[in-house]
Amino acid sequence: MLDIQKIRADFPILNQKVNGKPLVYFDNGATSQKPQVVIDAISKYYQEINANIHRGVHTLSQLATDAYEVARGKVQHHINAKHAHEVLFTSGTTFGINLVANGFAAILKPGEEVIVSHLEHHSNIVPWQMLCEKTGATLKVIPMDETGELIMSEYDKLLSGKTKIVAVNHISNALGIINPVKYMIDKAHEAGAAILIDGAQSVPHLKPDVQALDCDFYAFSGHKMCGPTGTGVLYGKEEWLHKLPPYQGGGEMIKEVSFEKTTYADLPHKFEAGTPHIAGGIVLGAAIDYLNSVGFENIQKQELELLAYATERLSEIEGLRIYGNSKNKTSVISFNIEGIHPYDIGTIIDKLGIAVRTGHHCAQPIMNFFGIPGTIRASFSFYNTKEEIDALVEAVKKAKMMLS
Ligand SMILES: Cc1ncc(COP(=O)(O)O)c(C=O)c1O
Repeated sequence: MLDIQKIRADFPILNQKVNGKPLVYFDNGATSQKPQVVIDAISKYYQEINANIHRGVHTLSQLATDAYEVARGKVQHHINAKHAHEVLFTSGTTFGINLVANGFAAILKPGEEVIVSHLEHHSNIVPWQMLCEKTGATLKVIPMDETGELIMSEYDKLLSGKTKIVAVNHISNALGIINPVKYMIDKAHEAGAAILIDGAQSVPHLKPDVQALDCDFYAFSGHKMCGPTGTGVLYGKEEWLHKLPPYQGGGEMIKEVSFEKTTYADLPHKFEAGTPHIAGGIVLGAAIDYLNSVGFENIQKQELELLAYATERLSEIEGLRIYGNSKNKTSVISFNIEGIHPYDIGTIIDKLGIAVRTGHHCAQPIMNFFGIPGTIRASFSFYNTKEEIDALVEAVKKAKMMLS
């Protein structure tokens, strides 16, 4: 069992009032809060070893380089990648997906196909649309049903010899649905296609095993898993990272440069042009250590309890509809109240100290599917409590009364 009060003490930001009320932070799907060890690790880096990496012979540069590469090793171990050089540091999920989509511009031919799902964040739609426009390939979409689940029989039908890459999220940010990614990976491979998993919403809740999954790419952001903003990881299977061209040209990613020809550096540096977010990479390692010290089993247990409690309590409110009713869900509840705009509810409950997200959550196709402008999304983390959910329920009731 987690000692939630002890855990909460690790997060200084939680201990404050907003608009005169105790802060209830339920916008974890957008970004997580940061524990003191992560905040301290940022200062420590700048106070003790700040230097540019991979270039200097001087001691500080070597210390910073070592710390950065140790962090890469932590990520490798955390996601069970076969090699450290399959772990590329990026600025986030968006960058990782764009890197792969850009690489496929050199591979895709007109008439070939890319598959995404109806449940994607815009970050896992737009780069593939841009790729299709550039190459003459066609974008296909796996449909969803009323419960928010993807229809696997339709996925099976979409796959063919023309499919070159499938891109799907592990967990939907707008509804919290957990997709059957292992099945989808195996099916993509049977069809001879590569597959990218958008792990932005899964890494705060689970430890992905990229070898067991056998995915070709797995992209995620550090800031949703207690790390700093501007950090992220793209895992790519070695064979794919050799096949794809570099994304950006510049320092660090080369072996030799002349005006006639440039040769590229070995992995992972081929994909890491320019000075990276050095402190960010190192501190992402500290965030991963912190999450592992809490333990993912404990995290999941606490979050599923919160999900069940919140689902039950919110369902007390007349006219409240929850979107995404699959059993395979993580701790996200997207809802609306009949006849009231989600933005109005969000604005009133903010005055009561409660932070939720309202709007389309960068997933407009899902909102179009349900015929709504947006939802109110409460996304819970292991540091949240049932008392906070009670405060949310009371606040939503109050807002409903004021707006009806
Ligand atoms: C499922 C999903 N994919 C991609 C992203 C983009 O992540 P980032 O903005 O950190 O690049 C998000 C962010 O909310 C997300 O939820």
